[in-house]
Amino acid sequence: MILVLDFGGQYNQLIARRVRENNVYCEVHTLTDGESKADKNVKSGLGTAINFSAIKNLQLEGIILTGGPQSVYEKNSSLPPAELFNLGVPILGICYGAQAMTHVLGGAVKKSEVSEYGKTEIEISGASKLFSGVEKNTVVWMSHTDRIFELPKDFVVTAESENCPVAAAENPAKNLYAVQFHPEVLHTVEGKKILSNFVDICGCQRNWKMDSFVADTISELKNKIGGGKVLCALSGGVDSSVAAVMLSKAVGKNLTCVFVDHGLLRKNEAAEVEAVFKNYDLNFIKVDAGERFLNKLGGVTDPERKRKIIGEEFIRVFEEIAKKIGAVDFLVQGTIYPDVIESGLGKSAIIKSHHNVGGLPDFVDFKEIVEPLRLLFKDEVRQAGRQLGLPENIVSRQPFPGPGLGIRIIGEVTAEKIKIVQDADFIYREEIAKAGIAAELGQYFAALTNMRSVGVMGDGRTYDFAVVLRAVLTSDFMTAEAAQIDWNILNTVANRIVNEVKGVNRVLYDCTSKPPATIEFE
Ligand code: XMP
Repeated sequence: MILVLDFGGQYNQLIARRVRENNVYCEVHTLTDGESKADKNVKSGLGTAINFSAIKNLQLEGIILTGGPQSVYEKNSSLPPAELFNLGVPILGICYGAQAMTHVLGGAVKKSEVSEYGKTEIEISGASKLFSGVEKNTVVWMSHTDRIFELPKDFVVTAESENCPVAAAENPAKNLYAVQFHPEVLHTVEGKKILSNFVDICGCQRNWKMDSFVADTISELKNKIGGGKVLCALSGGVDSSVAAVMLSKAVGKNLTCVFVDHGLLRKNEAAEVEAVFKNYDLNFIKVDAGERFLNKLGGVTDPERKRKIIGEEFIRVFEEIAKKIGAVDFLVQGTIYPDVIESGLGKSAIIKSHHNVGGLPDFVDFKEIVEPLRLLFKDEVRQAGRQLGLPENIVSRQPFPGPGLGIRIIGEVTAEKIKIVQDADFIYREEIAKAGIAAELGQYFAALTNMRSVGVMGDGRTYDFAVVLRAVLTSDFMTAEAAQIDWNILNTVANRIVNEVKGVNRVLYDCTSKPPATIEFE
């Protein structure tokens, strides 16, 4: 295992994902002076915050110190203890992590004369194992205002850029590496190679593989659950679907999956989910609750109220079913590793009150929660799904908000508007698939504005709705930029929507990034 010590940088989860791409298991933790809380669902058994004595007890192959917004010379900045660097395991410090390593080991870090932000060329000097096979001149991603001015004892410079004389440094005898740039970001052309080199330096066996993870998890679930009864709320999204199939392989008919169709799903989605799950060994209950949700949403225009209503109604429907099923031993949750990390850090401002099925535990009579995906990143969940034989239309499904189309219809939700947005979105998705660009996009969908405008069709005047198309590039959904979709594709989509979807006479494209906009419209 490689331990990623998180100092609050933007790309920290990405570091862990990149390490895992090398088939090496890794966990992200923040360093605390306090006690380490236990989390038995994470391999190390440790919660998100850990202290130095817990680190000493781990069987580690390597440590990565991440970037972060602090300055090492400021009071109260979080710094690793000097003993960390005597553990005998290779350590890679990235950006703030490199500066923290330098500072703690007796070097000097100060504000740089020129801050570097963006793509920068570095020149590698000498032979470093970290840069093995990397071009001498290579482009990296920089984002810093401080820099290393003086190296600690026994360190040598291994790369420099025009404005940063210490773009990388190391103490090769102790396998301590400091890089000012971000190898985890794809803009760093040879970033993957550099991280892969670090994995080799650590001597990792590269045996964290999805087929063995899936087989091990199923057998652990079998042991844990035995003949117990299990309940799963299935949304049709990737996480709950993969969790459900794993459970079905472990306990068969002792698993009951409840799929609530709130009527706010994408076109044909409910039928697709049903068709897939009919093939598995489990009890599948589908609830058609569209009318109930529509009634509750009548006249409501405020986005947060809509979210709340949909969330509460979902719990009410589920509660009714759970009552009929009676007491169960286990409730399945599709929690994935980013949820574990983020809830541990608890630093995000509430812009939108996202609900998944987090409220369910209060309403179901159960003894324990099982979270079979708690260790996995999203792309690993998809891999696990493929391993389990789930079809591609489920496995590669885009993220879809819990309140569904309810928050893609600006203003009041009506049956007519749901149909419009479903049909428009279907056409958009069909054309994106035809153009073969789906994999390049983080998320894309059609939404319905609350705006009617004048148009002309045939010889007549129309006064119809405007549909808006959104497509974003993002790796973490916290920030995103509008995708520059080929004009011909957009043109085809716009023509098809106005011709095929009744009630629409105008199609707009959203060019805004996040921030300042968000990905969804409400
Ligand atoms: P925003 O709109 O906040 O979206 O930029 C970021 C990501 O979160 C999804 N999203 C939601 N997911 N419940 C969810 O489960 C919600 O209420 C919700 N709102 C947004 C959104 O689709 C995007 O992937």
